[in-house]
Amino acid sequence: MISILCIALVALIVSLFLRYFTAFFSSTVHAHRSVASIRAFLHSPNKGIEELLTERAKANERLVEGMGLSNTFVSPDRTVHKAFTMQARELIKTPQARWTDFRHLTTQAIHAELANSESHGTLFDRFVQSVTLRVVLVGIMGVQTAVDSLDRESIVVVVEGITKLWSLSKKPSPASRKLLVDVKHHLRRLVLDEDTFPNPLNFVVPAWETLWRVVATAIAYTHDNPRLEKLFLEVYVNPKEEVFRAEGKDGVSVKGVVDETMRLHPPSRHISRVRPRLGWSWVPGALLNVMEKLWPGTQFQRGYADVEEIQRSSVWGEDAHVFDPARHSTGRLWEGQAETMSFSFGYGPLRCIAASWAPMAVAVISASIFDCLEGGEYAVVPGPNIGAREGWRGWRIESSSCGRSRSKKSENTSKTPGKPSA
Ligand code: HEM
Repeated sequence: MISILCIALVALIVSLFLRYFTAFFSSTVHAHRSVASIRAFLHSPNKGIEELLTERAKANERLVEGMGLSNTFVSPDRTVHKAFTMQARELIKTPQARWTDFRHLTTQAIHAELANSESHGTLFDRFVQSVTLRVVLVGIMGVQTAVDSLDRESIVVVVEGITKLWSLSKKPSPASRKLLVDVKHHLRRLVLDEDTFPNPLNFVVPAWETLWRVVATAIAYTHDNPRLEKLFLEVYVNPKEEVFRAEGKDGVSVKGVVDETMRLHPPSRHISRVRPRLGWSWVPGALLNVMEKLWPGTQFQRGYADVEEIQRSSVWGEDAHVFDPARHSTGRLWEGQAETMSFSFGYGPLRCIAASWAPMAVAVISASIFDCLEGGEYAVVPGPNIGAREGWRGWRIESSSCGRSRSKKSENTSKTPGKPSA
């Protein structure tokens, strides 16, 4: 009898231990979904910049091999951080990045893409990707070539390649490594200045990858709304911050449209970090890495700030999933909502350096596309769903030669907005 009891007791202890052991060492990922929790997660006050960079670099490790990055997103080194963020800040201050010049560049980029499209039109996502890449290369990175003479074949290889590499980056294979070589080769054909950009992907990925998706989504929400389209055309005619922020009688502004787009579809849906598990932070990093190689998932804990979730949470009311740019009108946004909005660009010392610049850039690129469509020669044909990095099946920019009866586009691209097409 006693021996049966002993066996049962031992079995109970073993099963409890195993449960504890597996729970502790399992590679569960911790999601942060409240304002306080996200803030503490991304900027714990007792951590220095080096520790924050190490946690980010560890979370983004796969992008070194998968995307060929060597910038501050994958480096724990504070000198890399300082140099990279300084260079990025300078780039968005370049003369081409001033709004009137930026609009001019964008219009040229759009015409270059449309001129190259097939007679019946082009894929919507490919079009926005290509236009935005041209603008990023010349307008931000200062490539010394006319925006419409950038090699089209290379543009296509780079936009398609980067998109594909993202989905392959979780599991790099010989095929993805070959694709990366191809992307790098074509990007080098576009960005000749090796001294300023030893690895152009370092800039193209954070700038282009985020911008094109916000542009595509903002257009997807507004292309069939003449009232919103008209607001964008006003920004096109007069690309100034005041016009971007100007609210109509209903409180809607272009800024409101861009903010609402980023609320519902933040390009960085999850901001990840990997840090030593509780109790292991005293162990030197190098030793932790060795232990992690021997017993994967036991030394480090992955977590993420769930930006998408918090920006669609109940603080936005019962219709949180509905696109409503009027939410952002003056006086309507309350503190709890504004706090969640700010996470689109991260939080703390590693927050995006382009947080104030990027929304206006999105507005100018979208406005230039609307201006082109307004003439009636081209139209957005929607697909069943709004995509993200992928998922734009069915979306097209269609030419009127496909049977649409539309007026001929004026040659003058800086016209006063007329009545927008529905
Ligand atoms: C709508 C467009 C953009 C969005 C939504 C966005 C989002 C973000 C987010 C969420 C982070 C923080 C990442 C983290 O903490 O791990 C970040 C950082 C950063 N972004 Fe952006 N970004 C945008 C556009 C850009 C552009 C156009 C540039 C370059 C010109 C840029 C350059 C950077 C840099 C350099 C950092 C790192 C800052 C640091 O480490 O201190 N971003 N961005």
